[in-house]
Amino acid sequence: MLILNKTAGSFSKPSKRKIYEILRCFLFHPGKRFLHKLVLGIETSCDDTAAAVVDETGNVLGEAIHSQTEVHLKEGGIIPPVAQQLHRENIQRIVQEALSASKVPPSELSAVATTIKPGLALSLGVGLSYSVQLVNQLKKPFIPIHHMEAHALTVRLTNNVEFPFLVLLISGGHCLLALVQGVSDFLMLGKSLDIAPGDMLDKVARRLSLIKHPECSTMCGGKAIEHLAKQGNKLQFDLKPPLHRNKNCNFSFTGLQHTVDKIIIRKEKEEGIETGQVLSSAADIAAAVQHTIACHIAKRTHRAILFCQQRGLLSQTNAVLVASGGVASNLYIRKALGIIADVTQCTLLCPPPRLCTDNGVMIA
Ligand code: KG4
Ligand code: ZN
Repeated sequence: MLILNKTAGSFSKPSKRKIYEILRCFLFHPGKRFLHKLVLGIETSCDDTAAAVVDETGNVLGEAIHSQTEVHLKEGGIIPPVAQQLHRENIQRIVQEALSASKVPPSELSAVATTIKPGLALSLGVGLSYSVQLVNQLKKPFIPIHHMEAHALTVRLTNNVEFPFLVLLISGGHCLLALVQGVSDFLMLGKSLDIAPGDMLDKVARRLSLIKHPECSTMCGGKAIEHLAKQGNKLQFDLKPPLHRNKNCNFSFTGLQHTVDKIIIRKEKEEGIETGQVLSSAADIAAAVQHTIACHIAKRTHRAILFCQQRGLLSQTNAVLVASGGVASNLYIRKALGIIADVTQCTLLCPPPRLCTDNGVMIA
């Protein structure tokens, strides 16, 4: 596209940004209806206040996020009333920022979509009551969103993925394997029988006091474990992947967490240090935990792929495995999943980390 450069009096190629601005001017002709459907997405299910404006073809026009990680790290975990208060303090600003970045006036929105479940009730309530107020004020439709469905479908923003595909969602609050057969059509194949892997990694990181480790002080538990594991020797501790005899696709992390707790107590005695100090063997423990979790997740996923392939539920030639959620941003776990994908001739797709973790785009 060429536009007239008034100052130079000549034609020049405008930047991409300029082109979008021009296109937006066409779309925003006063009095004319918008050509695209525009949805504002709002997410407050856990500890991120997020919003985004997305058009019907999946273009992200504006997004904003406020993470509570730093506060919860200091508190030693997510305290629901604290999360609720932080959502209350930030939701107005975050929605405003997403709208301003998109340059979409609220009156031009086609709908407001908000996470209604699952999640922390107090956190969900903030997004929901804010959205109800907003749609009443703007006279817009409200779209209730299931947080897990949003996570599972996010990959379709970045990749051309046909249904059905297999999805593995692993985060601080979720752990499931499902066959995605349509936008709201999920066949559950497995889930955690107790806690989620991210929750377990956060607990181990807290027990190891990694917040006091100079290299990890601002990292969430899972990231801190991944970082330290690179410096450790996973063979120093013999941890067994959970449920290895169970002939299903479920997960479990609590037993492993208790085993690691016992190892930490033993090492504290051996090294003569008190609880709250960082063990010299922390990196070895992190490496062993990460390796065991990766094996467990990869084995259960392998079973799910074989189950789907044997029953003709996944394409024989073009099967897709999608891994998403905060824990799926772990490169060691991705590598293990990559091996499983190779041996089963599947394509492994992982949305970029900013779309793997909680965000407003996936809701919109
Ligand atoms: O998806 P997410 O942002 O929030 C929900 O839980 O829905 O995931 C956060 C979780 C936390 O438990 C965090 O420790 C974990 O994902 N996590 C990681 C990594 N980055 C975040 N776990 C392992 N390796 C990582 N690099
Ligand atoms: Zn989530």
